[in-house]
Amino acid sequence: MISQNTIQQILSRIDIIEIVGSFVKLKKRGTNYLGLCPFHNEKSPSFTVSPAKEIYKCFGCGKSGNSISFLMELEKYSYVEALRWLAQKYNVEIEETESSPEQKLHQQAAESLYAINNFAQKFFSDVLLNTEEGQDIGLSYLKHRGFKEDIIKRFQLGFNYDSRDGFAKAALSAQYNLELLQKSGLVAVRDEKPVDNYRGRIIFPVHNQSGKVVGFGARIIKSNDKAPKYINTPENEIYIKSKILYGSYFARQAIDKADECLLVEGYTDVVSLHQAGVENVVASGGTSLTPDQLRLVKKYTNNLTIIYDGDNAGIKAALRGLDLALEESLNVKLVLIPDKEDPDSYVNKVGADAFKQFIADNKKDFVLFQLEIALKDAVNDSTKKAAIVNQVAETISKINKAEDFTRQQDYIKQCAEILKIEESGLNALVNKFIREKITKEENRNNRAANVVEIPETAVTAIEEDTLSLLNKDEQQERAMVRSLLEFGLKQWDDDQKVADYVFDEVKNNDLEELIDNKELIRVLQTYKAWYDAGIEPTSKNFLYHEDSAMSSLVVSIMDFAYEISPNWSTFYEGKIFTREDLYKQEVFSTLNYLKLRKIKRLMDENQRDLEKTHTAEEQLVLLQTHQHLKQVEMDLTRQIGAVIFR
Ligand code: UTP
Ligand code: MN
Repeated sequence: MISQNTIQQILSRIDIIEIVGSFVKLKKRGTNYLGLCPFHNEKSPSFTVSPAKEIYKCFGCGKSGNSISFLMELEKYSYVEALRWLAQKYNVEIEETESSPEQKLHQQAAESLYAINNFAQKFFSDVLLNTEEGQDIGLSYLKHRGFKEDIIKRFQLGFNYDSRDGFAKAALSAQYNLELLQKSGLVAVRDEKPVDNYRGRIIFPVHNQSGKVVGFGARIIKSNDKAPKYINTPENEIYIKSKILYGSYFARQAIDKADECLLVEGYTDVVSLHQAGVENVVASGGTSLTPDQLRLVKKYTNNLTIIYDGDNAGIKAALRGLDLALEESLNVKLVLIPDKEDPDSYVNKVGADAFKQFIADNKKDFVLFQLEIALKDAVNDSTKKAAIVNQVAETISKINKAEDFTRQQDYIKQCAEILKIEESGLNALVNKFIREKITKEENRNNRAANVVEIPETAVTAIEEDTLSLLNKDEQQERAMVRSLLEFGLKQWDDDQKVADYVFDEVKNNDLEELIDNKELIRVLQTYKAWYDAGIEPTSKNFLYHEDSAMSSLVVSIMDFAYEISPNWSTFYEGKIFTREDLYKQEVFSTLNYLKLRKIKRLMDENQRDLEKTHTAEEQLVLLQTHQHLKQVEMDLTRQIGAVIFR
């Protein structure tokens, strides 16, 4: 973990104009800067950067965030990678911190596994390239299949001796720990002796996003009924299959450039296509795509093209789960390779150019494709056909209507045609599914009681709709937190700062009774913890917080609109006041609004209680409570109306 101290140092040097400016041409416009949005295509600039708030927001596509999320989004960095990039740019030396014992163990295991895999990859490559057995069996097999030496080296392919423990011995004598070797899947223990798991096999290292080896796929050379074709690394601290796409490290730039990701099944398909110059390709390992894998693709592009062999039984499995791709607004296309070929054999047969042409000419929309194969199964069976119509309507309903309205309409039209049904009927059915979905979501949201749902990624488009949907109460809660974030470190009076005042009030009123939104409560608690520890928190600390939910929320609170809107300046005795001038009033009134709301709620509760039957004595207590609350309410209301600022 990078220490808080280092993070502070980096943050204190960040200049968002400089950082964004090195990727986007910015022009000064008032207090903000304006440029063409790097996240979507536009002709007139709507990408706004606020140097004061250190955030950007595109009024075209809605993307917003801070310097770090900008780097994460544009350069596909992880949070830590972005910090390291900034540290290097600003010459900040990185200091690592102590983590919890659990984190430490996990981290140590992960580090050791990386080290073991690194050792193993070098060992297997060496055996393949520099030993007689490797050359005679492994290398000649790969060359026979058409792989050239430079691609073999680029993908760091390897081979292991066909012996009991060739690798295990080498690893143990290099002091690698047996338990971890077992965890890595490279070594097993049989009859109390360490033995190699991959014997006489071609070895494909699997790299993560930053190029480290997380695991291996070991392919048998001569097919054999008894042994599996591939032996794969078991799940461990660093090999999490559902998050891996084979080849993504080698493909990331090409995918970005082509704005398309090709998905094939196997290791050999990826390597062959690379050799042919088709580099925007990854493999799923023949299973259906997981949500994490889809998200990985979506980091680079919205266009996913799945390439499968035509007679593959796995197609249906691969298509399963792709409804999710629609929800994420991915455009999924499908290409079937003809004549019992797979991408590897096909590109070898027809060459790179013809292959690319074939892909371009034969892309089919996956929704329509799914419909076609389903219909083949259902000729002359009206029950089956009805089920298909339902299925199609449900799939179409998953398209994000706000984003892709025309796309949805196109689908309805085309599917109605293929199904030979009325377009309006299908339209109605799709709408029914949409309504059902909304009802379901509402129920879920009600249960989650006012928690704003923040997407997982730090780079979050804050949708205007979502903001305007927030009810007035929540806007008030946000306003209160915003005033603390912006003015917390200013003096409240001679003795204390705004933050001291706010936290005193919060303490006297009970945080949970003042604020409903759990995320906002978390922001306040985090602020307080920092403040108590002597850190002087500003919105910056939150904007760059590793917890992306928190950072997104704070970005959305610090919305530009408040800064630009003239409504925020007040005319008073011939002078125009800005929010800055009126900060005490803002802190005071936002807090009082929440206090007032609390009192009103207590009064309602009391009222409901009164309506039940009580003894005279109880009734008296309740009435007294009512009077007391009424008094507090009046005081608060009066105070709100008569704020004095100095
Ligand atoms: P394939 O059988 O198509 O293998 O399985 P391949 O990699 O294309 O190899 P060649 O071209 O036939 O030599 C596709 C993928 O499914 C996974 C592997 O990831 C493989 O690349 N697989 C297959 C396994 O994990 N285990 C197996 O036993 C078979
Ligand atoms: Mn294959």
